[in-house]
Amino acid sequence: MRRKLVAGNWKMHGLRAQLPEVEAIASAAAANPSVDAALCLPFTLIHPAAQVAGSLPIGAQDLHEADKGAHTGCISAPMLVEEGATLTIVGHSERRGDQHETSHDAYMKAAAAHRHGLKVILCCGELEAERAAGRAERIVQSQIEKSLPDDADPSWLTIAYEPRWAIGTGKTPTADEIASMHAIIRAKLRMMIGDDKADGIQILYGGSVTGANAAQILALDNVDGALVGGASLTAEKFVPIIEAAA
Ligand code: G3P
Repeated sequence: MRRKLVAGNWKMHGLRAQLPEVEAIASAAAANPSVDAALCLPFTLIHPAAQVAGSLPIGAQDLHEADKGAHTGCISAPMLVEEGATLTIVGHSERRGDQHETSHDAYMKAAAAHRHGLKVILCCGELEAERAAGRAERIVQSQIEKSLPDDADPSWLTIAYEPRWAIGTGKTPTADEIASMHAIIRAKLRMMIGDDKADGIQILYGGSVTGANAAQILALDNVDGALVGGASLTAEKFVPIIEAAA
């Protein structure tokens, strides 16, 4: 039986003035122990948030695949660990779009994170034009093929399906479309790493999840939680999603 995970991704939002929101989210998460919760924050907030978050895991949204080196502006897994991060997102569609990252980059980054004991939320998802062209399934399968770490295991890896066109738009796929894509991802995982491991891996849905639609989405087969952007920025909006997963 897979637990539900509700993870917030603050993207490029948040200054120290928002730390009380982290504290309030952490309290609500502690009050709902049947749900796993986490917050993936800007690099600059990881250390201060980890100080006030209690048992709520604090993570990053990206990292470099190397442990150190001449990579101006980049952050490595050991740096994240030192700041108090315990997880990271890799392969988010905004990294793929804005920074031209590939599935192979996500593969390398996931491996780097795992080497240093960070849990990983590995993202996949199609563009609107790809769905319109009937290619969504193939695109997502191919992303999983190219980015799934060799030693993928439920103890440290989570998948997030986030259709690009649903992110920050208020649009979501239909319930059938979400359930069908999650089943396709589960089947792909089974083929690649065997039923036992594949069946333990949480598959999150992300893209315009709110307190209003969370319960319906979280009830779908193979939806093991949510990766939430805009609605994770305040406790007022995020806590109802955690509660919907309980
Ligand atoms: O990683 C979370 C994400 O991309 C979804 O963002 O704002 O649509 O919930 P949002």
